[in-house]
Amino acid sequence: MSQGIVTVAYIGATILFILALGGLSTQETSRRGNLYGMAGMALALLATLIGIVSDNYFLLFVSVLIGGTIGLMLAKKVEMTQMPELVAILHSLVGLAAVLVGFANFMDHTISLSGVEKTIHDVETYLGILIGALTFSGSVVAFLKLSARISGKPMLLPLRHWLNLILLVLAVWFCFGFIAQSAAGGGMLPLIAMTVISLLFGVHMVMAIGGADMPVVVSMLNSYSGWAAAATGFMLSNDLLIVVGALVGSSGAILSYIMCRAMNRNFISVIAGGFGTAEGHTATSSGTDDEGEVVAVEDAEAADLLLQAKEVMIIPGYGMAVAQAQHVVNDITRKLRDKNINVRFGIHPVAGRMPGHMNVLLAEAKVPYDIVFELDEINDDFPDVDVSVVIGANDIVNPAAQEVPDSPIAGMPVLECWKGKTTIVLKRSMATGYAGVANPLFYKDNTRMLFGDARESLSGVLALLG
Ligand code: TAP
Repeated sequence: MSQGIVTVAYIGATILFILALGGLSTQETSRRGNLYGMAGMALALLATLIGIVSDNYFLLFVSVLIGGTIGLMLAKKVEMTQMPELVAILHSLVGLAAVLVGFANFMDHTISLSGVEKTIHDVETYLGILIGALTFSGSVVAFLKLSARISGKPMLLPLRHWLNLILLVLAVWFCFGFIAQSAAGGGMLPLIAMTVISLLFGVHMVMAIGGADMPVVVSMLNSYSGWAAAATGFMLSNDLLIVVGALVGSSGAILSYIMCRAMNRNFISVIAGGFGTAEGHTATSSGTDDEGEVVAVEDAEAADLLLQAKEVMIIPGYGMAVAQAQHVVNDITRKLRDKNINVRFGIHPVAGRMPGHMNVLLAEAKVPYDIVFELDEINDDFPDVDVSVVIGANDIVNPAAQEVPDSPIAGMPVLECWKGKTTIVLKRSMATGYAGVANPLFYKDNTRMLFGDARESLSGVLALLG
């Protein structure tokens, strides 16, 4: 295939990827966005396979077959709640690929460059391996934390900021050594030394980050994997890889920024680490002096409250995903709307365990898009809400964020359901949520706790709605 056709195919794929990102920005168009992405990837693969690869077809097809089969099996098996850890481990593969391509490229003696061109190529290789290695090890640790194979608690070494600084200085120092030695035909040793440093840096960086900040870490690693791919694109002089890497890198960075804002955290302090724990322990103290009583209700009282309401706000959280309660939620919504009760959904940007988690589940259950609102859009409406139904959510409705100045989640925007007439909270126990912070909402006078698995409780309520 001529270079011209490959270039045209690459431009087509780039346009499809941009359309994919555009499509993914709203629920209505997200399915179409995914289709654009798939078409773009198929086009990019085809153009590369037919137009650029010229040797070793057997090896290539066998690896594509093995990789494709593993991907297909994983996608079929993975539960919605395991998505973040799957994403984390996939990022690690992008990082690993960048490291391997970097070393292969460095050892490829058919590339004969000299002078400034060689220095630029060396810097590209060095940066590609550096970003790739820290993405790889950081993503592996993120995977281990998210899948609870290791503790989600932040590991805070004494003098950890100094340790990070020393690693950074060493990485820069080895870069100069590498460029000087590479000009004389060597350079492998500083390259390996930097790779080890980057691997350590990745481990240390993510180990220091607490459970509550993990969403930001996943999107940050997503961004790094994009930059690693872009660096690989420079190494291989592949324009498509550069563009796609930059798209992933910048969209991941924007997402990290949005999530930091949603959690009222600044990016630097997330990276510096040390916030939040992932252990779901039972709350013993709400952090306030007057904890008060917890009022538990049964399905019948919850159903009565709903039937008497005119305005209902449903706030789904991680527990709705665990219980797979979205379909019952939709049935209840339909029933209440048939009775002329206005039902809306309030979605917190970090509800669940991945960006858009709740929106995906609600869309799957066919909840109409036009009654699903973002936190910013509905937070002022709670005083007019008769009943808020909190389904397996905890951190995102925790008033401690506003009421307890030294709370680990102080300042995080939360859905202010306690300002409504009554709040019904569905959960199985008094355990804390992801951030490990006790929740004073459960003790408020206008809160009713409906204990049990959310799907079972809601099925009971649905049966009583008549
Ligand atoms: P959480 O604060 O984690 O609370 C979820 C609650 O669901 C738990 O308190 C749990 O209480 C309850 N639950 C679990 N299984 C249940 C079931 N089968 N039936 C009923 N309830 C059940 O969730 P949230 O309010 O959605 O907040 C999200 C948290 O996760 C935030 O801290 C956020 O920073 C973090 N996070 C978010 C993301 C993204 S990007 N969305 C990624 C990683 C982490 P019981 O055990 O008592 O039932």
